[in-house]
Amino acid sequence: MEYQNILFEAKENIATVTINRPDKLNALNAATVNELKDVFSEIKNDKQIGAVILTGSGEKAFVAGADIVELSKLNIISGKEFAEKGQCVFNLIENLGKPVIAAVNGFALGGGCELAMACHIRLASTNAKFGQPEVNLGIIPGYGGTQRLPRIVGSGRAAEIILTGNMIDAEEAYRIGLVNKVYEQSALRDEAEKLAKKILSKGNFAVKMSLNAITATDNLSEREGLNYEAGLFALCCGTEDFKEGTAAFLEKRKPEFKND
Ligand code: COA
Repeated sequence: MEYQNILFEAKENIATVTINRPDKLNALNAATVNELKDVFSEIKNDKQIGAVILTGSGEKAFVAGADIVELSKLNIISGKEFAEKGQCVFNLIENLGKPVIAAVNGFALGGGCELAMACHIRLASTNAKFGQPEVNLGIIPGYGGTQRLPRIVGSGRAAEIILTGNMIDAEEAYRIGLVNKVYEQSALRDEAEKLAKKILSKGNFAVKMSLNAITATDNLSEREGLNYEAGLFALCCGTEDFKEGTAAFLEKRKPEFKND
């Protein structure tokens, strides 16, 4: 498929999706949100792809938010549609069934911060800056920020970030658990790839079930979640990967997962 605002590359079972509007700091206009939906739908159905890296073009921005030119034209009706559309695409990413690593290479503001939070793991470059500046525009986050940010950093920190519209730098984002690791800009992509490769070296099914269980924590009580986990654990016990993984440990060798 051809994309106008996205670069797509697939190499050794890893897809890299790059949001490519560098002159607008990769701001998410409607066309880009549609393309994100298309590319992630394609990735979901592509059996060759086991992991995804999501990043932004250039060295300045991951995504500087929703496109404010388009945003400024919303009304009560179109505003609801706008938020629901973005949420639907970000939910697709969160529920992809394959690990999605955000390589946050600069500004991740508004929809950019929300996009990174829909990914399973966030790595950042030292120049990255995070924020939910929507209050400065007279709105609130609409692509999941009010829900995902408190779950990731706690409600007090989320409230401060959302209510002040302040930006935080990569170190602070690391300190509060918004990102897993911080790297020099020049090392970020390689580190994201290394991480993706490490995950891909594990049994596919166990990775998928782990993600499935982790994502479910948002919607289940602890009791329901434990029950869900037990069911997925049981499913893993029926796989060839389980036989291979345990046998390899006992025979003191590396496992060879088939990943089919
Ligand atoms: N929507 C549309 N265009 C955007 C944008 C956005 N969210 N963020 C940046 N741009 C555009 C700017 O309008 C500018 O375009 P121009 O060259 O045609 O004038 C270009 O990207 C470069 O941005 P600029 O503001 O000149 O860069 P800067 O280094 O001075 O500032 C930011 C960087 C990120 C601090 C600033 O661009 C900004 O505050 N962006 C908006 C962030 C935001 O509120 N996002 C949430 C939206 S809900």
